[in-house]
Formats: sequence, structure tokens, C-alpha cells
Amino acid sequence: MDLEQIEKTHSAEQPEATFAPSLATTSKKVFVKTYGCQMNVYDSQRMTDALAADGYAGTESIEDADLVLLNTCHIREKAAEKVYSELGRMRGLKAERAARGQEMVIGVAGCVAQAEGREILRREKAVDLVIGPQTYHRLPDALRRARGGEKVVETEYAIEDKFEHLPKPRRAEIIGRGVTAFLTVQEGCDKFCTFCVVPYTRGSEVSRPVAQIVAEAEKLADAGVRELTLLGQNVNAWHGEGPDGGEWGLGRLLYRLAEIPGIARLRYTTSHPRDMDDELIEAHRDLPALMPYLHLPVQAGSDRILKAMNRRHKAADYVRLIERIRAARPDMAMSGDFIVGFPGESDADFEATMQIVRDVGYAQAYSFKYSPRPGTPGADMKDHVAEAVKDERLQRLQALLNEQMRDFNAGMAGRTMDLLIEKPGRDQGQRVGRSPWLQPVIVDETAGEIGDIINVRITRAGHSLFAEPV
Ligand code: SAH
Ligand code: SF4
Ligand code: F3S
Repeated sequence: MDLEQIEKTHSAEQPEATFAPSLATTSKKVFVKTYGCQMNVYDSQRMTDALAADGYAGTESIEDADLVLLNTCHIREKAAEKVYSELGRMRGLKAERAARGQEMVIGVAGCVAQAEGREILRREKAVDLVIGPQTYHRLPDALRRARGGEKVVETEYAIEDKFEHLPKPRRAEIIGRGVTAFLTVQEGCDKFCTFCVVPYTRGSEVSRPVAQIVAEAEKLADAGVRELTLLGQNVNAWHGEGPDGGEWGLGRLLYRLAEIPGIARLRYTTSHPRDMDDELIEAHRDLPALMPYLHLPVQAGSDRILKAMNRRHKAADYVRLIERIRAARPDMAMSGDFIVGFPGESDADFEATMQIVRDVGYAQAYSFKYSPRPGTPGADMKDHVAEAVKDERLQRLQALLNEQMRDFNAGMAGRTMDLLIEKPGRDQGQRVGRSPWLQPVIVDETAGEIGDIINVRITRAGHSLFAEPV
């Protein structure tokens, strides 16, 4: 992850997170480190669930770990390279544990595992196990083989549905994870944007059936989850088999999920502009539970570059689409992703990106310098943009986006809104809630319990937002 380029809570790249499940009665320990997007966060939890069934408890201390799993991201070069420096550090820890007669199995999962496979074993001898995202249900078996001394590589796309075979999350575990949850409904991508590795690392689009999704959502709700975020690399391309045997789209699924008792808020990410259909836009009009915040990346504002990126729409289509969405839900806040310095991007092309940002107005945005990825068509294109030019463009774009984000937050002063109380605050006596627009808001702990949704007025909108119940 390019820490210098992106802020926290990126739609597609989260800050690194360690994750520890709560079952403490077991003897072996696993340390999981997650890079990349929310889908990896979800996968890390499901892998930990699978390992818990196998007798592994989570630990936050890598020195104590019998098993270390890096769940990796391949989206930009720096994200991928970071894995190797981390593995180098772990080689030393593994040797120290071995000297004490202790085991440390090192596994690499996620998109780097899928993209580089056996190459990882060649570059870093300390690695025992490489497992791609489509094969996580084979993790317990792969681990047994690795512990027996075999170097294991599992990157063949499995024919079985991994969701069908992974152990379902258990109530006790979910409870420890808070009042918001991710639920992957769709995986993979058939879009083949020319800059992107995802279609190669995650394979082609697969949608989970409605019944499976509803069952998981009900279980989460039963364990106290109030806000569900549906995940997919291309989540609005989801089209699953309904209980009636017919094919449903994401809009219809959202209507169904909104009926589940306890689920008060719904979100979905990440969407492609081409897949925003009428039913989905109507869901934004009709469902109060569907939050007025949408991450809808456009990447660039120049039609020439959009075409070269294979985004399959024009800049004006995107602006019109957002007008329709805002007509359906007037308080809709937009979030987006941008790439600067795609091959062939001229000054005029870049100015078109600046213009589309001014035309749309973003509440949140993530912007990146183009990073050529091996095996993608973009990497072989002519006219790569000089690094210094990319730097300069990124700075100008981020200055504009930061100004819009600041204005959006400052505009909250005095407004009333619902807040989902999520967790204790950093300071004594405080709690942190989420606004409908995904902003953290600080309230006094007397305002309500974790999991409550309360109506508040924003009293201070500076670097952080503060509120009082009304
Ligand atoms: N499915 C999402 C994007 C997933 S990747 C979509 O279609 O919008 C998340 C973001 O990383 C992308 O939106 C893009 O802005 C950025 N990204 C992807 N590949 C990149 C590359 N090669 N160089 C720089 N940024 C990239
Ligand atoms: Fe990548 Fe494009 Fe698919 Fe998004 S839609 S995951 S950017 S190929
Ligand atoms: Fe990264 Fe794979 Fe997600 S490449 S952004 S972890 S789908």
C-alpha cells in the first residue's frame, strides 16, 4: 500500500490491520496481517474462522505465532514489494523460534500469492505456503501439508465455490467484531480495465446466490451487527440466483436485506459506473437504510484516456449518472478513485480530470499515480508519463480533492443526523459513531450504547466532528 499516497480507510486499500479471533481455548496461534482492500479484510476473517475450527487462536504478537499469514495486495508495485520486505523480517523471527524448538509456518495469501505463485517460494525461502483467494477453503489441508515439510502452492482456481466450503462465521466470533460488518457478495471482475490486475488475481466474476447472502446477513444481524457493507470488486455487477429461481440484481437484493430485523444501515462497494441500473438507483430513492454515500470511481476525466483505460463510458455519461443518482437521493455524497499519469495522458487530459472533480464535487476520494502492472495491457502501452510529471499532477489533484473533503466536513456544522455508535473513543468518556456519510463523529458516552442509532446535532466540525444528542 502506498502510504504516502492514500489516506486511511481506502475503499480498495485499507491500512494494514491485524486480526485476532476471540476463541482462546486453543493451543496454536495464528497472526494474520491484512493488506489491500476490504475484500481482503473479509477473507482474513473467514480464513481465521476456518483456522479456529482447526485449533488456531488469533494473536496480535507475531513472536508468539505458530502460523503467520500475510493476506497481500498486488494493485500497485509498492503494495506488492512491501510483502517481500515483511517476509525478510519474518525470516529472522522464524529462525529465532526454530532455535527455541518452536514452529513458525509462514503463509502468503491474497493477490500477490495468486499473481506470483511459486515465484514467492523462489524469492523468499522462509515461505512454506502460498495460497490464492479462490482456494481458501483448502487452507486447513494446505496447512497440514506445509507442517509436514512440504512447500505448498495452491493457486489453481477451484471449481467448488469457496463460500460454500468455508466454515460459516460463528456467533461468538461475530459479537467480538463490532456493530458493522462486511459481507462479500461478488468476487472477481470481467471488466479488464487496462491498468488493473484484479481480473487476473481474482478471476472472473462470481456472484453468490441470494439465499446464501441472506443467511449470512441474518446471522450477522443476530449477533448484533447494525450496518452491513456488501463487498465486491465490481459489486453492482452482482446478479444472483433468487429464491424464486429468477435472476436478481443488486437493487433487488438491497430491498430484501433491508427487511432483516436489526439491520439498520446498508452500503455497498466498489461500484462501476456501467453497472448502476435503474433498480439500484430506485433503491437509493426508496430505502432509508441505504446510506447516502456512494463510492463510484471514474479514474479520469478525459474521454481519450477513459477509452485507453477500457472504462467503457465517457466523462459526460458519468456526470449525467451522478445527476440521476442525486435526483433520486438529494443528500447523496460521492466518493471516487483517480489515476494520474496513465500512458499517453497529456496536460489537457489531466485538466479534464481536474474539471470532472470540480463538476462532481467529492466528499471523499483516493488518487494514485499510475503504476504499470506486469501482464496488463497498460504496461505495454507507449508514451509512459515521466515520474516527475505524475508527482506534480498527483499533488495538484490531491490539493483540489482535499479542499473538497474539508468543505464537505465543515459543511456539517449545525446539521442534525443519525449516528450509529460504533466504539469507545480515544479519550475517556467518549464514544465514536458513524454519520450516514461514513464520517467518524465523537459524542459523550452518555449519548448512547454501542450499537444504538441516535439523532445528534454537529457542534464542532473541524479536524474531527463532535456532536450532541438532540
Ligand atoms: N473495482 C474498482 C477498483 C478496484 S482497484 C473499480 O472498478 O473502480 C482500486 C483502485 O486502485 C482503482 O479504482 C484505481 O484507482 C486504483 N488502481 C488500480 N490499478 C492501478 C494501477 N495499476 N496504478 C494505479 N492505481 C491503480
Ligand atoms: Fe479493476 Fe476495472 Fe475490474 Fe475495477 S472494474 S476491478 S478497475 S478491472
Ligand atoms: Fe489488492 Fe487484490 Fe484487493 S490486488 S485491492 S487485495 S482485490
